[in-house]
Amino acid sequence: MLARGMRVQATSEAPNATDADTLVVGVFEDEDVAHPALAALLASGEAKRARGSLALAHEGDRRWLLAGLGKREDFTPESARVSAAKACKRAGELGATHLCWALPDGQSAAVAGALVEGTILATYRFDGYKQRNDGDAPPAPPAALTVSAPGDVEEALERGRIASEAANAARLLQDTPANDMTPTDLAARAQQVAAEHETLSVAVEGREEIVARGMGAFAAVAQGSYQDPRLITLRYEPAAGRAGGPMLGFVGKAVTFDSGGLSIKPADSMAEMKYDMSGGASVIEAIAAIASIELPLRVIGVVGATENLPSGRSMRPGDIVRTLKGLTVEINNTDAEGRLVLADCIAYAIAEGAERVVDLATLTGACVVALGHTHAGLMCNDDEWAAKISAAGEATGELVWRLPLHAEYAKLVNGTLGDLNNAPAGRLAGAITGGEFLHRFAGDTPWAHLDIAGTAWNLGREYAEAGGSGFGVRLLIELAAASAQDS
Ligand code: BES
Ligand code: MN
Ligand code: ZN
Repeated sequence: MLARGMRVQATSEAPNATDADTLVVGVFEDEDVAHPALAALLASGEAKRARGSLALAHEGDRRWLLAGLGKREDFTPESARVSAAKACKRAGELGATHLCWALPDGQSAAVAGALVEGTILATYRFDGYKQRNDGDAPPAPPAALTVSAPGDVEEALERGRIASEAANAARLLQDTPANDMTPTDLAARAQQVAAEHETLSVAVEGREEIVARGMGAFAAVAQGSYQDPRLITLRYEPAAGRAGGPMLGFVGKAVTFDSGGLSIKPADSMAEMKYDMSGGASVIEAIAAIASIELPLRVIGVVGATENLPSGRSMRPGDIVRTLKGLTVEINNTDAEGRLVLADCIAYAIAEGAERVVDLATLTGACVVALGHTHAGLMCNDDEWAAKISAAGEATGELVWRLPLHAEYAKLVNGTLGDLNNAPAGRLAGAITGGEFLHRFAGDTPWAHLDIAGTAWNLGREYAEAGGSGFGVRLLIELAAASAQDS
């Protein structure tokens, strides 16, 4: 199902000294290439320097791909991911098994890592449910990637490999339909990653424990479903003496299917709501990757996994529930369930010692309307923490755009009969009121909310076109790496 385990290696030798069958060389605008066959392709006009163009040459029993990279000054790690994804797909169609990219001269280790990411992300397929005849099976992606670079890029390649494989693992959880990705299935994945690393531990709790803890908002969402909910707590504790930096809290919404509950959604796009567990999937896989990389700081992951279904025991509009933090919430709309789950999970992560929190959630349709599939919405109560998250997203190509918090928005989530209401009438500033609701549960702890409703699937990026995108996995890893140096 997953093209796992692409072999990745660095070499300081020239591409044609490797045993790769397909060699990829990039060319910038106004520049030339040394290789005569590729220079001839450029001269004839068959190959172009424009970003995204790809031309093919053969020499002996090897293939060369010439990748146009556009203007040198516009080239970023994100351009490298996109170019690498294009080249990987073409190479797969051509039957390549071993690719070698020549790192364009003057480019950083970050670009080398990004070439690995773009390649591995492009190999992801979700095809485990469909029978195929050999004839119509899509071409297998290359199994090995070598990056030829003069400098020391090994660590960047290894991080790129781990991070993009973690993103692909999250995509598999996302794409798996809700009948096979229940809260219990998601918890089983958390238990599996915890078993793979000495430094990870996991606790999985069900309906009774969630109720007993006083997580009345989470429990209310879960009460409509026969599926037992799961509160998944994944802790990463680096090897003795290596914990620096603040303890991070990653909180994920994992509604494995969101029908809307009694405030039921229209039928048209309800099937997409299998993706409503994307935040939780990203948290689990990011923490697994952080353990693989052995980053020197502590992380607690809290994933609230449940279905949101209508039934004879569902929460009702008008119900008032009591949260772990003690605040009560009036349920105006049972489809605003994500904030109910997260309210308790955020309060719990902070009670467990998280000093800086980020939550990931497919929270609002309003965020998709505002930002489309390009940026996730960022809402944050701390400018430094917000800047750190923006920088992490900039580095990984998982873009975020900050939306304001403000006392006037906060007022909109005040309740009439309870402390808060989960769905303000009029839908004003729908993404922000979602953030303001969660803000009450984070209090003054530095906290950021990423509304990934528009970016979690169908990203339309060359390396993640349709289906789950794994959005947030690489950002969280980058954020943890950057935070390890902080006090
Ligand atoms: N999971 C949805 C949000 C969503 C919608 C994500 C479309 C991706 C695509 C969430 O639980 C929801 O239903 N939110 C409501 C909130 C409203 C009732 C305040 C929404 O956005 O309509
Ligand atoms: Mn909903
Ligand atoms: Zn939802």
